[in-house]
Parts: sequence; structure tokens; C-alpha cells
Amino acid sequence: MSKKPVFVCNACGATTSKWAGQCDSCNEWNSITEEKPLTSSSSSKAIGGKRGGKITLTALDTKETPPARTRSLMDELDRVLGGGLVPSSAILVGGDPGIGKSTLLLQAAAMFASNGLKTIYISGEEASAQVRMRAQRLGLKDAPVMLGAETNLRDILTTLEEEKPQLAIIDSIQTMWVDTVDSAPGSVSQVRSAAHELTSFAKSKGTSVILVGHVTKDGQIAGPRVVEHMVDTVLYFEGERGHQFRILRAVKNRFGPADEIGVFEMTGAGLQEVRNPSALFLSERGTATPGSVVFSGIEGTRPVLVEFQALVAPSPHSQARRTVVGWDSSRLAMILAVLEARCGIPFAGLDVYLNVAGGLKVSEPAADLAVAAALLSAREDAALPEGAIVFGELSLSGALRNVSQTENRLKEAQKLGFTSAIMPKGKKTPKVAGMATSGYEDLTEFVGAIFGAG
Ligand code: TYD
Ligand code: MG
Repeated sequence: MSKKPVFVCNACGATTSKWAGQCDSCNEWNSITEEKPLTSSSSSKAIGGKRGGKITLTALDTKETPPARTRSLMDELDRVLGGGLVPSSAILVGGDPGIGKSTLLLQAAAMFASNGLKTIYISGEEASAQVRMRAQRLGLKDAPVMLGAETNLRDILTTLEEEKPQLAIIDSIQTMWVDTVDSAPGSVSQVRSAAHELTSFAKSKGTSVILVGHVTKDGQIAGPRVVEHMVDTVLYFEGERGHQFRILRAVKNRFGPADEIGVFEMTGAGLQEVRNPSALFLSERGTATPGSVVFSGIEGTRPVLVEFQALVAPSPHSQARRTVVGWDSSRLAMILAVLEARCGIPFAGLDVYLNVAGGLKVSEPAADLAVAAALLSAREDAALPEGAIVFGELSLSGALRNVSQTENRLKEAQKLGFTSAIMPKGKKTPKVAGMATSGYEDLTEFVGAIFGAG
């Protein structure tokens, strides 16, 4: 087999046979580096030359006991993990630099260790003294966590093999260096090899491994997405700079529901759990103002109330601006188009700004009606009824569609002092004491009822 050089883009992982200044797949500049071809020749020799052993096959009804999970006693973290840490699992925690990953994992290490797990924390970015100082500042110095500062993966694996911890935290995967791969730490091949070694170690030795990964500016785990495929669980730690809220979101979980979130607040004494996120996201809200709408959403398994804020103003530019924070911009374009086509309410020549307060990112289609209501409320300069929440999916025809977990949405709103809900008309709307519901068939009916124009 010929050994052609392979060139890999460090941003998206695409491979080419020629070097180029710009990657064809993701258009990133100067991201392509040469890589040694992977071990395909040696593995094909093994396949060609030697017969493998027979693997054990089992029937589907073989009894399997659920994994014994260990809880960290940080409820927000345990829930995102699907109820605690599963032995031999590999977890990737991604997030922007400086968002608080090291803080979160140091606190988690201390909690798991105090709860009886033998825990090792390896920092490849900070010196042990720095991590120790942080632990002391966070009041964790008595937790039985063992600390190491190292980037050489061979040494780390040997240490883990001898110490046999139940949990190993590697901060971060981009700083790890495998001496059999000759490219720089942080490159695709280094990150891929290091992640592969560590996940195989987790599977074979029964140690749970948590890998920290930095995210590039467009939200991908730097280097390879392949790391995401190797691990059992992928968590993202996100939040807005300047906001103290941090959200830990499960985007993949082989041992629990994906899309579960845990909410934390960054304080001077580290991350504090937020047990009631709705209260937090609505905390800065005053009385009903034009452009502001409270949406009753579902994040993972629990309802969360958030405020959508819209601003609509005549545009001084030939092309009006559409600016969105915390919501999908193409979904906004769709809602503007439906408002224009089905209700005859034009937004041409108007700048539109839409923001989800508190730094949460909402991805549910159930927020369509809340977005439409916020846009209309801002455009008409008319506030929604005091104490109302809004939810419902919008179709291109302008019809309103029912969404899942209506009852949970209503209950959460009631709990936080809201008194009425604006929602799609349903065959059987659940009754929640203290919540009046108004259901609408389509957007035109909703606009007529709430804003008195069609
Ligand atoms: P860090 O955990 O180092 O981020 P990452 O590992 O994701 O790069 O967190 C860095 C930020 O967190 C830093 O800007 C300071 C802030 N911080 C607090 O506000 N309070 C604290 O108790 C700690 C430890 C950090
Ligand atoms: Mg860090």
C-alpha cells in the first residue's frame, strides 16, 4: 500500500491529499497540516495474516443490571449525567475558554471524592500549585482529590494504571501529548489519539474519564468532532460573558436523556447550583413592557420559564438588520415571513432585534408563538396582558400547533405567579388551578384577540 501524505484540517477534521491555505470544507485559513497516515497498512496486515478470535454473542433478553451510578451530590450535575456517574464511562465537557470548566470539574472532583470515589485530577494547563490555590479558595482543600500536572499521556496512563482511580479528570484534552504521534499538541491527530487512548483505558480498566475540551469560536470542540463519537457523553458548558449564569447541557448521552440542562451561577466562591432556574431567568423582570414575553419552555426533563425580548425600530440602512441572541436566526426569518404573508403585518424597513434574557439558548419550536408575540408587541408598542405566558408552534400556513408537556408548562408558570396562558387551541387542554388558558387556532385569530388588528 502506498503511503501518500494526508492533510487534515484542524478546524473541521476534513482530509485532503494536497496542502492548501484554506480548507475547502469549512473555509478556515491556515488550518491544514500534514499527518502521518493512520495505521491502515498494519491493521490490514493483521486482518490478512491472522484469524481473529470468536466474539461472545448474546440474546436481546439477556438480563442486564443497570449500572451502579455514583452521585456527586451536585444535583444539577447528576441530572445532566442522567442520574450520576456511570463506571467506565468517558465524558467530554466542552466550552469556551474561561467559561468555568476547570472550576466545575475541580468542584465535581471534590464532590465525587468526598462521596467515596478515588479521584485523580490531571491538569495539563495549570501548575499543581495553581489548582491547589483555587481549591483552597473554593473551600475544597480537605477533599481527598489527588492532583497531578502533566501533559505526557504515556506517563499519565502509567500513573492511572498504578493508582487505579475510579474517576480521572483530564484538563484539557488539547494539551495532551502522545509521543507516538509527531504533530503538535492540540492538532487533530494528537487530540484524536489522546482521546482514543483515554477512552480505551476507561473501558478496559473501569475508570470513568472526564475530558475537558476547548471550543472554537464557532462552537465546535477544537480540532476533531471525532472525539464526540468516541465518548459516551458529551456535555457543553455554556453561558454569556458578563452574565453569571452557566448552563451545562447534555448534547449526547448513552446513559441518560440528551438535552438535559443543569444551571449554575458563577460566584466569588465558585459555581453554585441553581435549583429554580425559572426564578433566576425572570429575576430582572419588572412589570409587563412592550416587546417582552415570557415563554414556558421545556429544557430536558423540566420546565423553564424564560423571557423573550424584542425591539423593532425603523431602519436607517437600506437593508434592515435582523439580530438574534439565544434563538435560531432562520427560525426568526420564518416567523417574520409568516407574520407578513398570513397576517399582512410587514417588517420590511424595520430593524428587528430578538434576545433571550439570561443567556439561555432556546431551540424548541414551541417558542414560535412567544417570538411572534414579542415581535408584534414590540412593533405595536403594546404590552401583553400582565401575568401571561406564551407557548405554541407555528406552521407556515399560520396555524398554531400543540406542543408536548402542556401541563408541565402551565404548572411551572402557575408556581411562579403567572395567571394566564396564551397557547394553541387543543382538544383537551389540561386544567391547572389558578391558570386561565386562551387557545387560538391560528396566528390571525391570536393577533386579532391580543392586538386588536388582523
Ligand atoms: P476556569 O474554570 O478557569 O475556566 P476554563 O477552565 O473553562 O477556562 O474559570 C475561569 C473564570 O471563572 C475566571 O475568569 C474567573 C472565574 N471564577 C469566578 O468567578 N469565581 C471562582 O470562584 C473561580 C474559581 C473562577
Ligand atoms: Mg481551564
